[in-house]
Amino acid sequence: MKRVITYGTFDLLHYGHINMLKRCKEQGDYLIVAVSTDEFNWNMKQKKSYFTYEQRKTLVEAIRYVDLVIPEETWEQKKTDVHEYHIDTFVIGDDWEGKFDFLKDEGVEVVYLPRTPEISTTQIKQDLYGEEKD
Ligand code: CTP
Repeated sequence: MKRVITYGTFDLLHYGHINMLKRCKEQGDYLIVAVSTDEFNWNMKQKKSYFTYEQRKTLVEAIRYVDLVIPEETWEQKKTDVHEYHIDTFVIGDDWEGKFDFLKDEGVEVVYLPRTPEISTTQIKQDLYGEEKD
């Protein structure tokens, strides 16, 4: 059983997210998604999500490709998560290209997948409000 993990905020869930999670699952058999908590978004990224962590978690859990949702609370947890959850492959969008190569030292395969063009949570907010509202 090949175990895969990915991380993200997944606010205002959109087809770019679904496409990413589908391709994550194709990398293995069991997909864990670490969804960033509201505190992590605010403290680390100065971003306020539209949906709360519990709402985003419920939405991501409902996706057929997702087997387990865990909270993302720190940048450092990736190094321990991969051991705790016996991860074979770490996957993330290529907006993070090269940033998580250090996980290879933990014995994990690191894959950067191309983002789906022309859609993002930020873009949706801009299109709806005419300005960025984080
Ligand atoms: N993602 C993707 N294609 C998109 C948007 C997101 O493949 N068009 C991927 C990201 O690369 C990441 C995951 O989906 O691996 C979660 O991304 P997230 O940052 O939550 O979504 P964004 O829409 O990029 O949000 P924001 O605009 O706030 O950065």
